[in-house]
Amino acid sequence: MKVIAFNGSPRKEGNTYYAMSLVGEELLREGIGFEVVQVGDQCVRGCMACKRCIVNQNERCVICSDDVNDWIQRMKRADGVLLGSPTYYGGVAGPMKCFLDRAFYVIGANQSLTLLMWYKVWAAVAAMGRAGGVAVYDNLSRYFSGYKWVCPMPTGFPVIFGDEPGDAKKDARGIQVMRILGKSMACLLKEVSAAVEGRPG
Ligand SMILES: Cc1cc2nc3c(=O)[nH]c(=O)nc-3n(C[C@H](O)[C@H](O)[C@H](O)COP(=O)(O)O)c2cc1C
Repeated sequence: MKVIAFNGSPRKEGNTYYAMSLVGEELLREGIGFEVVQVGDQCVRGCMACKRCIVNQNERCVICSDDVNDWIQRMKRADGVLLGSPTYYGGVAGPMKCFLDRAFYVIGANQSLTLLMWYKVWAAVAAMGRAGGVAVYDNLSRYFSGYKWVCPMPTGFPVIFGDEPGDAKKDARGIQVMRILGKSMACLLKEVSAAVEGRPG
């Protein structure tokens, strides 16, 4: 089993990464693979609303100048997906939002791809300097809402405090929340894999 994590921060090893790595440590402890993809420092174009993904039915966005199509396939191959973003003006950081808008539109556009995503486990985390992380979590969670993905109920809001990289290491409560989230995600992944039969592919 494997979880693919998408880091929406331009900082490769900032507070968002730290929060995600705590979740990842718990997954690894349970024998679940964990890999982080760096999104936030990439030049990712926004959705053009061309809807060619609906017409083409090829699991791809027509924009080929970035890695979004590869990231969609990596989601497809994973058992779970972890999203993380820093809080920027109370919202998701730009490249991450561009990626998610396009990726989930492609997923929704293609029925067989939608079916392949059924019962994958998702979780999301946010880093923030002061306020707005809960709105980011809420925003990230919306990408999954139209599909049959499942998520572990976080104990408290899955946000971590910190401004400069490394600050989040002082947020004891945030660290605890991330670790519990990792344990719950591992548990749910095992439950789902034991329970789901007949998922296409
Ligand atoms: C453009 C920009 C906007 C920000 N907006 C907010 C905000 O609305 N609320 C907040 O609490 N922190 C805000 N921050 C601070 C970041 O959320 C905070 O530094 C976070 O820990 C960054 O995570 P990272 O280290 O993974 O990049 C902002 C930072 C930047 C660069």
